[in-house]
Amino acid sequence: MRRDWNRRARENARHYVVTGQHQWTDEEFFQSGQITMEEEILNDLSNVCQGRDPKDMRVLEIGCGAGRVTRAFAGFFGEVYAVDISREMVRQAREAVAGFPNAHVIRNNGMDLSAVAPHWWGRWRIGRQLQFDFAFSVIVFQHIPSREIIENYVREVQRLLRPGGLFKFQVQGSPVEADPEHSWVGDWFTEQQAREMAERCGFELRYQYGAGDQYYWLWYFKR
Ligand SMILES: C[S@@+](CC[C@H](N)C(=O)[O-])C[C@H]1O[C@@H](n2cnc3c(N)ncnc32)[C@H](O)[C@@H]1O
Repeated sequence: MRRDWNRRARENARHYVVTGQHQWTDEEFFQSGQITMEEEILNDLSNVCQGRDPKDMRVLEIGCGAGRVTRAFAGFFGEVYAVDISREMVRQAREAVAGFPNAHVIRNNGMDLSAVAPHWWGRWRIGRQLQFDFAFSVIVFQHIPSREIIENYVREVQRLLRPGGLFKFQVQGSPVEADPEHSWVGDWFTEQQAREMAERCGFELRYQYGAGDQYYWLWYFKR
């Protein structure tokens, strides 16, 4: 996955992040992130913020790419942590949020969030623990050709989210054949599978939108 995404990022990161366009100016690219924020955050404040002031919230983004949405988040939330598997995407995302000291972009291993907040290792806890008020991921899990890895991320978010907090994310909802060789076509979920994954990982699937579609939105609330 890392090799594929580094190659794509070097070739044309913004195109692979949002495939609708080959060339993006900074203005267009960040405007598209702002639109995602308006549609998915500002239109959904009661679930995302739950009465909190966004400036008091610490949020997590999985698969931030070149920082399209991360930058919009950094202007809205108090503290933003974003992870991505690709070194080149991380480099570009850091550039995108260079003016925002409240944004932290971290390269992770493509499977878990130990790079953000470490696990317990036997009796030892390495590094500091962070708790998040909200977690988000858009057009990322559709590219992960392994349900086990996607579920591991869900379990990891559950570990780091405060009780009651929301993980809002997309998965592939249309029946496609995952392609582990190229990490472009990811594994897909039926409504039943999405519901069972929530239960197994300590979440309530409260809302969903787009079952059967390429952009299947899930609202998981931590129990
Ligand atoms: C289509 S881009 C979307 C980027 C961003 N979410 C956006 O909407 O602008 C998918 C991103 O997910 C990252 N990615 C793919 N598989 C990943 C994994 N297993 N763990 C973390 N990031 C991953 C890629 O490196 C790429 O930056």
